[in-house]
Amino acid sequence: MIGLHKDTPKFITLEGGEGAGKSTQIKLLDDWLLEQGLATCLTREPGGSPGAEEIRNLVLKGATDRWSGMTEAMLITAGRAEHVENRIKPALEKGEWVVCDRFFDSSIAYQGAGRGVGVERVKELQTLALGDFTPDLTIILDLPVKIGLSRAIARESQKSDMEDRFERMDVSFHEDLRAAYLKIAKDEPKRCVVLNADTTPEALQHEIRAVITGKFGA
Ligand code: TYD
Repeated sequence: MIGLHKDTPKFITLEGGEGAGKSTQIKLLDDWLLEQGLATCLTREPGGSPGAEEIRNLVLKGATDRWSGMTEAMLITAGRAEHVENRIKPALEKGEWVVCDRFFDSSIAYQGAGRGVGVERVKELQTLALGDFTPDLTIILDLPVKIGLSRAIARESQKSDMEDRFERMDVSFHEDLRAAYLKIAKDEPKRCVVLNADTTPEALQHEIRAVITGKFGA
């Protein structure tokens, strides 16, 4: 018994650059939470609710220069406001543990740092859209850029119509993302934990579970 409770549901986000293995880790995490007898809500951004998924399609498809960084930040944040109000908050109110694949730290890293909108501006936009609503825990999967990109390229061959614009950007963009995530973690040590993703999926999952137990277990 590790003492995770349905009556104190938590909002957990997973973050990281390309190829960090978030999707695999989130599925394994969900399995484990369910095994603890908890109800879960597994979701993702951009998207996660019908309206926000429509915005996701707008943002992720098409040419790299389709939107300015600021437009992208505002579109994704609009989707986030929708997702929080119509899916995340209702799930928490029902007692579900919410696990989200990316959340506002992705906007800070990708649009704020990567696309040069400015970290502070993107943070302000989050406050405008969400007030003081924040994850209870953010796990950042950290990986050297070269390793992440080679993993992402290997994965690419299995996708049919992958149109993810960000995976096509250059190495310095991904270095900026990584630095931005590490800065967020440094600035917000209570909310964020950085884990080294250059390991096996099993070992990484073990660490994720240990972090959650350490933070929320009885
Ligand atoms: P997705 O296919 O879900 O990729 P991943 O497996 O990397 O999560 O695509 C999401 C992409 O959207 C990813 O490249 C990061 C980007 N993104 C932003 O640029 N800003 C954001 O706020 C979010 C949530 C995602």
